[in-house]
Amino acid sequence: MHAAGAPLVTAFPAKWPVNSAPRVGRRYLTIRCWTSLSNDTANHHYSRRSQQYWDKFYKLHKNKFFKDRHYLEKDWRSYFDDEIESSNGKVVLEVGCGAGNTIFPLIDTFPKLYVHACDFSPKAISLVKSHENYSAEKMNVFVCDAAKDDLCANVMPFTVDVVTLIFTLSAVSPCKMASILENCKQVLKQNGYILLRDYAVGDSAQVKLHDRNQMISENFYFRGDGTCSFYFSEAYASTLFQNAGFAIVDINTYCKEITNHSRNITMQRRWIRGIFGRS
Ligand SMILES: C[S@@+](CC[C@H](N)C(=O)[O-])C[C@H]1O[C@@H](n2cnc3c(N)ncnc32)[C@H](O)[C@@H]1O
Repeated sequence: MHAAGAPLVTAFPAKWPVNSAPRVGRRYLTIRCWTSLSNDTANHHYSRRSQQYWDKFYKLHKNKFFKDRHYLEKDWRSYFDDEIESSNGKVVLEVGCGAGNTIFPLIDTFPKLYVHACDFSPKAISLVKSHENYSAEKMNVFVCDAAKDDLCANVMPFTVDVVTLIFTLSAVSPCKMASILENCKQVLKQNGYILLRDYAVGDSAQVKLHDRNQMISENFYFRGDGTCSFYFSEAYASTLFQNAGFAIVDINTYCKEITNHSRNITMQRRWIRGIFGRS
């Protein structure tokens, strides 16, 4: 993935929390960087071309890569459900909706929901619009780079009950995450919430990327297909949301050991789950 003749950059290893990634030792990494000798994350080739690489991803995989995320409606039922018979239902915005693996199961379970959904990949948005359950009456689906385009151009300010960030924030350069939260705040109701699910530090995928020297900055990596991935600690996510003016309702790290019997390997998967209230 590296350009021949690109300058050599020496980067420090990620600071692993105690016991989180025993297979990665403390050592210096040598990374060939396409852009400059500075450690400027936003200016890194894969950060700058993130939209292009995600669009390529959906052109290649279409809607076949991610499975429908049926666990959300179980874990966060009360955030989506509106039990008042006469009400119109809650309004949800999914930022970085991809091919719709979060929104379609939600609409299926909570038919009263009105869903706004955006992604910066035009290909992802066309996949959502061609889904068999797509409904122009119940959904407002649009192309938007949530780190720089004003969400209020497509969503009325302060009208959204819940924003979902499901494996989206990890795809964003850490220096752009605050702008995304600020943007979400402009459409959230005063008593609205952001629900976060994402990769956590020490996840086996991070260990692999780290071992392959694919680090851009601390806990931020590029994958073989050019898309990027950040791994969250609870402390990092808490500070990020609190600095953006959100209160922590709940935050935890979910760990699962997954064994691939045919390849005889065991992987430690780690995910962060958070609920943040607009304060
Ligand atoms: C791992 S996918 C998750 C898709 C979806 N949330 C799901 O549950 O399957 C991450 C998505 O975030 C989108 N994304 C990354 N950065 C974005 C940005 N700045 N604005 C809008 N979408 C973005 C990518 O195009 C990709 O579809």
